[in-house]
Amino acid sequence: MSTMKDVTLEINGKNIRAKDGMSILQAAQAADIEIPTFCYHEKLEPYGACRLCIVEITEGKRTRLVTSCVYLVKEGLMVKTNTERVNKIRKMILELLLPLAPTGPLKTLAHQYGVKESRFPAEPTFCILCGLCVRYCAEIKKENAICFMGRGIDRHIVFVSEISAGVCSFCRECHDLCPSGKITKLSEEVASLSPLESEI
Ligand code: FES
Repeated sequence: MSTMKDVTLEINGKNIRAKDGMSILQAAQAADIEIPTFCYHEKLEPYGACRLCIVEITEGKRTRLVTSCVYLVKEGLMVKTNTERVNKIRKMILELLLPLAPTGPLKTLAHQYGVKESRFPAEPTFCILCGLCVRYCAEIKKENAICFMGRGIDRHIVFVSEISAGVCSFCRECHDLCPSGKITKLSEEVASLSPLESEI
């Protein structure tokens, strides 16, 4: 028998019932309240990398910003998903990411937040390191056909040719997850290389 209790919290002034152990993001999504995300996927462990899902919470007299995909619901918690402070930070995140991936869902969301251009130099790697492809392939597909390489500013994703050659053409499930178009580009690049060149 499940021991999971319900808790009541408030999101944007509305009382929401949620299961104890849910994240604020999951509770909001269950109540049809939209919070933008880049690195969250319902089937994957939360990652907390992009910070786009930040929200403002009030507990007692204390108000602060938290990452809603990893912060768990609590009885009586008050949450606001689109305050001026929250939107300002989301705008800054989008402005930082836009030079990396100036097309696709990222561009669409940036425009929704009024970010048409970025003050930061263009660096179109088309990857924002959200890790969705890497984690989905490892956690859901159990294949590890794509992985991170390098550290810091050199961090990037690569297909592991020994594995990807056998599985990727039949799967392609990571293509629709990518918010920045990197996977499609990388697949095309790998397909155009000789087998020797595509090895990492
Ligand atoms: S969706 Fe929460 S940090 Fe990326």
